[in-house]
This record gives sequence, structure tokens and C-alpha cells, in this order.
Amino acid sequence: MKNLDGSSFILRPWSADDAEDLARYANNEKIAINLRDGFPHPYTLQDAKSWIKMVRENKKDLIYAIEVEGEAAGGIGLHGKEDVYRYNAEIGYWLAEKYWGRGIVTEAVRLLLGHGFGNYPWTRIYAGIFSNNVASMRVLEKCGFSREAVLKRSVKKQGAYLDEHVFSILKEDWKER
Ligand SMILES: CC(C)(COP(=O)(O)OP(=O)(O)OC[C@H]1O[C@@H](n2cnc3c(N)ncnc32)[C@H](O)[C@@H]1OP(=O)(O)O)[C@@H](O)C(=O)NCCC(=O)NCCS
Repeated sequence: MKNLDGSSFILRPWSADDAEDLARYANNEKIAINLRDGFPHPYTLQDAKSWIKMVRENKKDLIYAIEVEGEAAGGIGLHGKEDVYRYNAEIGYWLAEKYWGRGIVTEAVRLLLGHGFGNYPWTRIYAGIFSNNVASMRVLEKCGFSREAVLKRSVKKQGAYLDEHVFSILKEDWKER
């Protein structure tokens, strides 16, 4: 997996040395509430070590650390689907709160779309966003995704039922921008 360079960050593979940064930045309820329960809260050093081990053994998906100012400050990945969905990949991401609002994830998503559509057989990339996560929806809109479905009350997070908004982009609609 080669590094992908952004203007103020690098997308690069996770290393065992990232565990402390990961545990520090991922241990934030404002991040966890927007993600699936596999991203725990609180997020311990042991969670970080286990996750990095799992990612380093995963040869199927493209899972990058977002390195900002020399630290692993977030994650972004493309997860390939199987069977009749094998031309689909699901995108997911999160960033340390101190870097929110600087355009980092928007640029990272664009980089990964170019890399994914350019080098892999995927023809559709999609994401599922909980209904209260307006910032993430905005990121995807800025990258050319469109809302294709609302899966009503499909999510239960922290005791509340939420709709999930499915955003997607097809390869033929992807333009480097
Ligand atoms: C969502 C997240 C990844 C965004 O990362 P980021 O680097 O801050 O995003 P960007 O700076 O590239 O863009 C954020 C956009 O959302 C907008 N935004 C942020 N909060 C918003 C809010 N409450 N309402 C509306 N728009 C909002 C910003 O203004 C910006 O849009 P703009 O450029 O048009 O002004 C980051 O907040 C995060 O890690 N959140 C927690 C985890 C998460 O939600 N992951 C995605 C799960 S689907």
C-alpha cells in the first residue's frame, strides 16, 4: 500500500507505533457516537493495539492512518464488498477533533476516491451516515456523492433509533477536482 500525500497530511498504513496516538485521539465520545459500535467508547490502549493488529493482517481492504503533524490523527478506509456487491466499496473515516473544520477529510476522501477508482475494480463507492451527522454528509457532498436512500430507523445508537442516509458515487461520475 503506497502513501497518498495530501496538502497537510499523509494517508499511510497503520504501524504498531501508532497505538498511543490512536488511543488518545479515538477516545472521544463525539467521534464514537457517529460510528458503529465496533469503534468503542471509552477507547483504550488495548483497543488501539488490537485494532492495529487486525488492520495490519487485513490484505483485502485499503485502510489508512491520517497522519497530521507527525501523528496518527485519524483513519480512513475503503472496504471491498463481496459476491454480487464485489464492485462496491464502503468508505469510512474519522479525524481527531482538534483538526476538524480544516478540510482534511474532504481532501482525504477525494484522494482515496481517485486511488480506489483508478487502481481497483470498484465502480461504486458508498457510505452510510447517521441522520444527525451533518458534517459527514457535507464532506461527501463536497466530494461529489449524492444521497440515494434513507434507511428509516435502521440504526440504534446509544439507545436512540436513527435513520441512516446512504450516499454514493459511481465511477463514471467521479472527476478529479
Ligand atoms: C465528519 C468528520 C470526518 C469531518 O472531518 P473534517 O476534516 O472536519 O471535515 P472537513 O473540514 O473536510 O469538512 C466539514 C464540512 O462540514 C461542515 N460542518 C461541520 N459541522 C457541521 C454542522 N454541525 N452542520 C453543518 N455543517 C457542518 C463544515 O463547515 C465543512 O463544510 P464546508 O467546507 O462547506 O464549510 C469529522 O468531524 C469526524 O471525524 N467526525 C466524527 C467521526 C465521523 O463522523 N465519521 C464519519 C462517520 S459517517
